[in-house]
Amino acid sequence: MGNIIRQTTELALHLVRPYVTPDAAVIDATCGNGHDTLALAEMEPAQLYAFDVQEQAVRATTELLQRHGYSKSIADGRITVCCQAHEQMNMIVPHSNSTGAAPVRAVVFNLGYLPGGDKERTTCADSTLAAVQAAMELIAPDGVICITMYSGHPEGKREKTALLEFASVLDAGKWHTAYISMPNQKHDPPEILLLTRKQ
Ligand SMILES: C[S@@+](CC[C@H](N)C(=O)[O-])C[C@H]1O[C@@H](n2cnc3c(N)ncnc32)[C@H](O)[C@@H]1O
Repeated sequence: MGNIIRQTTELALHLVRPYVTPDAAVIDATCGNGHDTLALAEMEPAQLYAFDVQEQAVRATTELLQRHGYSKSIADGRITVCCQAHEQMNMIVPHSNSTGAAPVRAVVFNLGYLPGGDKERTTCADSTLAAVQAAMELIAPDGVICITMYSGHPEGKREKTALLEFASVLDAGKWHTAYISMPNQKHDPPEILLLTRKQ
């Protein structure tokens, strides 16, 4: 194992890994250039869903997966890459309690804008909150929702404030929450918010 406290995105994936069991469905809510989706595919869940609103991101993710040998998994439906807003995820991913559906054990959000893409197409507080609520409907008991937040730009700051306010009033009888930051980093470093559903 490398030094997991070096980079927030690596830390987020490290935190998610134990939840990605072979029977699990997992969701990448913001697939972007596909790096998180590929890392999740390599954890070998039963089902993987990836969402992004930009065609460019869906194409980049699909191509990255294909280059790494996942063409068959895409063809047979084990991996689904959707050009769809993540607020819609609960319309597309089957609920854990529906017959035969793999339990959703992890949902990963890596917020902000597509690196190298249009900075205007960033995730936004209202739609992110709606998507987190959709993820909360889907997540299985003891599953995790892992959100990497970037407050170094104005919408990211609003998004982080909204998410932390939302998390702070969640029913402690039903949800565990955790908030991780890297306090000695400069310039509003990324931070992680974790939500897990109690049994
Ligand atoms: C920081 S990037 C994700 C990086 C990505 N996980 C990777 O590994 O390359 C954030 C992505 O969120 C996407 N996004 C913005 N609003 C969205 C929405 N409502 N639903 C789904 N994706 C959205 C953007 O298009 C962008 O590609």
